[in-house]
Amino acid sequence: MSSQDLDSLKKAAALKAVEFVRDGMVVGLGTGSTAKHMVLALGEKVRAGMRLRGVPTSNETAALARQQGIALIDTDHTWVIDVAIDGADQVDPHFNLIKGGGGALLKEKIVAASAKQFIVVVDHAKRVPVLGGSFPLPIEVIPFGWGSTAREIHSLTKSSVVLRERNGVPFTTEAGHVILDVHLPRIDHPRELEIALNRIPGVVETGLFVGRTDLLLVGTENGVESYPATRT
Ligand code: 5RP
Repeated sequence: MSSQDLDSLKKAAALKAVEFVRDGMVVGLGTGSTAKHMVLALGEKVRAGMRLRGVPTSNETAALARQQGIALIDTDHTWVIDVAIDGADQVDPHFNLIKGGGGALLKEKIVAASAKQFIVVVDHAKRVPVLGGSFPLPIEVIPFGWGSTAREIHSLTKSSVVLRERNGVPFTTEAGHVILDVHLPRIDHPRELEIALNRIPGVVETGLFVGRTDLLLVGTENGVESYPATRT
């Protein structure tokens, strides 16, 4: 399937998610190409008169939301998010996710955790029987001593740990951290791995989203499939 075809499936899932947004809601706005379709659709709703406020998970999403006329909540306030909508890099049969391909995992996890409902929107190619393998697990770490942190992660996972770079220099997140991509062949116990990784000094957050999905919407050639999930 071409990337253009996959993009139309992402869009269909994103548009379905937007149906859950009601007048007056505070919406967590994810990051990435799937989330972009959602922000554009919300912009249309706002221009049609719907009152919404958004909590963006990246500067890129914030800029797009502003351009679309979506009011944004000052992120220094204690917000109450009614629904957060975001994409994912992989989804397993238990609705656990790998996120962070775009490097926004920290804000994305904060927003997902504080939302009353977390809706995940993907195309069918993101579904996998087990996390890992084709997609590395992103881990956001403090730049100070990142090499030692990487060594600790390697000794825990026995997998290759690669400092993410962009244009030949270390990729820096919006919070000023760096990302280590861990090439795990398979993640059989994501919850235990998340806990163990978060115990390593220097680790800020991992791209494992375990037991956080409330609803999974999957764009397929036969339409959008809907899978309600239970937070665990
Ligand atoms: C960004 C993310 C994205 O949600 C994830 O990378 C999916 O992106 P896309 O919708 O472009 O496939 O986690 O940090």
